[in-house]
Amino acid sequence: MVAWIVASAILVALYILIYYNFLKVVQCRSETSLRGKTVIVTGANTGIGMETALDLARRGARVILACRSKERAEVAVDKIRKKSGNNEVIFMQLDLASLKSIKAFAVTFLKSEPQLHLLINNAGIMAAARTADGYVTTWEINHLGHFLLTHLLLDRLKQCAPSRIVVVTSATYRFGKIDFSNLNPPEESVIQLMQNYSCSKLCNILFARQLASCLEGTNVTCYSVHPGIVYTEVFRDLKCWHKVFFVPIATLFFRTPADGAQTSIYCAVQEGIEKFSGRYFFDCQVQEVLPHARDDAVAKKLCEVSERMVGLSGH
Ligand SMILES: NC(=O)c1ccc[n+]([C@@H]2O[C@H](COP(=O)([O-])OP(=O)(O)OC[C@H]3O[C@@H](n4cnc5c(N)ncnc54)[C@H](OP(=O)(O)O)[C@@H]3O)[C@@H](O)[C@H]2O)c1
Ligand SMILES: *[C@@H]1O[C@H](CO)[C@@H](O)[C@H](O)[C@H]1NC(C)=O
Ligand SMILES: *[C@@H]1O[C@H](CO)[C@@H](O)[C@H](O)[C@H]1NC(C)=O
Repeated sequence: MVAWIVASAILVALYILIYYNFLKVVQCRSETSLRGKTVIVTGANTGIGMETALDLARRGARVILACRSKERAEVAVDKIRKKSGNNEVIFMQLDLASLKSIKAFAVTFLKSEPQLHLLINNAGIMAAARTADGYVTTWEINHLGHFLLTHLLLDRLKQCAPSRIVVVTSATYRFGKIDFSNLNPPEESVIQLMQNYSCSKLCNILFARQLASCLEGTNVTCYSVHPGIVYTEVFRDLKCWHKVFFVPIATLFFRTPADGAQTSIYCAVQEGIEKFSGRYFFDCQVQEVLPHARDDAVAKKLCEVSERMVGLSGH
């Protein structure tokens, strides 16, 4: 009995030690108010996106939750309104796995909302499937869909400058490789799934970089963000027996969604980071990425290929 208590005490102490040394997350300290500003957060009904939307609502912004499921989004709208005391929290339907839905969203948004100051490209998944448009789902939702969405909203962002775009990526970009000759292969193994996820996250970083250079002089800036390893629904598709191992570890060591949202919030509101437009942020700090994620020739090619895939060429 005593041995058990001592052992547990040691474990708890060890956890607290690890927590404070390694896992304590840098919080965004900016007190910037967003009163009078309009914000879009994609995939805002859960996880990092919901916590980002909640924080921006607390700052007084008009927040559009751009989500695919009306039911799930409306639960989040209620929650965010209650917690923030801000009633200007609105759902608009957006399915990033459908180019048609993205265009319809843009039309509705541009018609009904006169302003846009912040676009948070947050939605993301790792899924083995193909969209109705015929693309690999992970690729279309994580990169291509957000690419199109951003382009359709860019004029409005320019009109409302200073404005910002935040692209939620992941440190797994490290393992990403872009094979332009084979962007849409049949997806089978878990390894391929991971590879395609990493590739889409590498594209996020290259996209933010290319976009920043196109936007120079417009007072519209953009940033890519790694949230850390966060315990969210991104892991919802794990098999039962995986969960037995995963859940305890995730609960102890992964970040909470609120902590995971800090760097997105930082890039959305922190004053004075405009000079870092196009760069990658982690823990509320700019970080250098590996060479393959700052290859401007690849970024340019990706932009051209993406334009073609979404039907924006000739623009
Ligand atoms: N969690 C991590 O450890 C981690 C690490 C690095 C990067 N990230 C990135 O962080 C971002 C947020 O992920 P999360 O961890 O918060 O995951 P999450 O809890 O699974 O949330 C993902 C959000 O994206 C939405 N979404 C998925 N497919 C969509 C579609 N076709 N159209 C519109 N929205 C769609 C989801 O909506 P539904 O609820 O309707 O599915 C959900 O709201 C992602 O870009 C992810 O890659 C996460
Ligand atoms: C998906 O993975 C395959 C196999 O690793 C790769 O050839 C392909 O380029 C990847 N495609 C995308 C869109 O990520
Ligand atoms: C950008 O902002 C600066 C400082 O507020 C301003 O002087 C400049 O005219 C703006 N440029 C554009 C293109 O809006």
